[in-house]
Amino acid sequence: MSADEQQSRHISRAIESISVLGAGTMGHGIAQVAAAAGYPVILHDINKEMLARGIQSIERNLIKGIQRGKLTEADRDQTLQRLRGTTHVSEAASADLVIEAAPERLELKQAILREVEASAQSPFIFATNTSSLSITELARAAEHPARVVGMHFFNPVHLMRLVEIVVGEATDEETVEAVLAVARRLKKEPITVRDVPGFASSRLGIALGLEAMRMVEQGVASAKDIDTAMELGYNHPMGPLRLTDVVGLDVRLHIAEYLHSTLGTENFRPPEILRRMVAAGKLGKKSGEGFYVWEE
Ligand SMILES: NC(=O)c1ccc[n+]([C@@H]2O[C@H](COP(=O)([O-])OP(=O)(O)OC[C@H]3O[C@@H](n4cnc5c(N)ncnc54)[C@H](O)[C@@H]3O)[C@@H](O)[C@H]2O)c1
Repeated sequence: MSADEQQSRHISRAIESISVLGAGTMGHGIAQVAAAAGYPVILHDINKEMLARGIQSIERNLIKGIQRGKLTEADRDQTLQRLRGTTHVSEAASADLVIEAAPERLELKQAILREVEASAQSPFIFATNTSSLSITELARAAEHPARVVGMHFFNPVHLMRLVEIVVGEATDEETVEAVLAVARRLKKEPITVRDVPGFASSRLGIALGLEAMRMVEQGVASAKDIDTAMELGYNHPMGPLRLTDVVGLDVRLHIAEYLHSTLGTENFRPPEILRRMVAAGKLGKKSGEGFYVWEE
């Protein structure tokens, strides 16, 4: 074991179990990597079907891992043995670390936080996977705001290495250290970011995406050539316009509007081309057309 691993094991001693609230796109992935790292995991969803679907997705991901030679059958079996699903939030409240991955609505996340606090028997850290909401605002609903923090994972969770640890105004050092250690044990690369709109990743990613759209608008180059500039010139795995198509133009418009209104800088004002395309139903991959045409 390296000195770094020893250090992270030492700090993470307090976190011995993890619950994930919400078994959707992000929640099932977080539960998978946590169980694979050796934590006993409870995956919770209010919706029985979503819970079953989340567990099926984990099973599918693990089978793909075996087919690619990344996992053994024993790895898969052990991961699944550590994982338990429930629709009762009181069961999920027994973990040392509760990671919330429910829909992106502040009042909902605050209600979930209060519910967990009301059922928990012992102290726990509440981490939210929010991609845009303020941790400080969320923590206002908490009895123990010092133990509320952001753990922003990326999709698909089992493949993407980044985790943004978002530090709210009230979050204490011990909480930050504990979730940094967990992120490392999940084999992720954590970065620490102050709680500002867009954190680090969305703010930079959106800035690049919006500038690329303005370049298309001004006829600087085609969407494909602008993407190629970033893919080959800067080694980005995917250019900013193709990425916009994959994420969804409506999703990016929503984030741009939010960043423009909160940060107030002109580079986040949504370009006309983005508004026009969203109004015309060109939402990217999911609608079949965005900056590219997507075949089935
Ligand atoms: N999808 C992404 O690419 C992505 C990336 C990073 C962060 N996020 C953030 O992760 C969070 C979850 O996003 P998602 O894409 O996984 O959403 P999703 O819609 O796929 O899943 C949300 C799940 O939460 C469940 N749920 C609803 N209310 C609940 C409650 N009270 N308690 C427990 N579960 C509840 C739903 O049944 C659903 O299964 C959001 O905050 C989102 O902003 C998403």
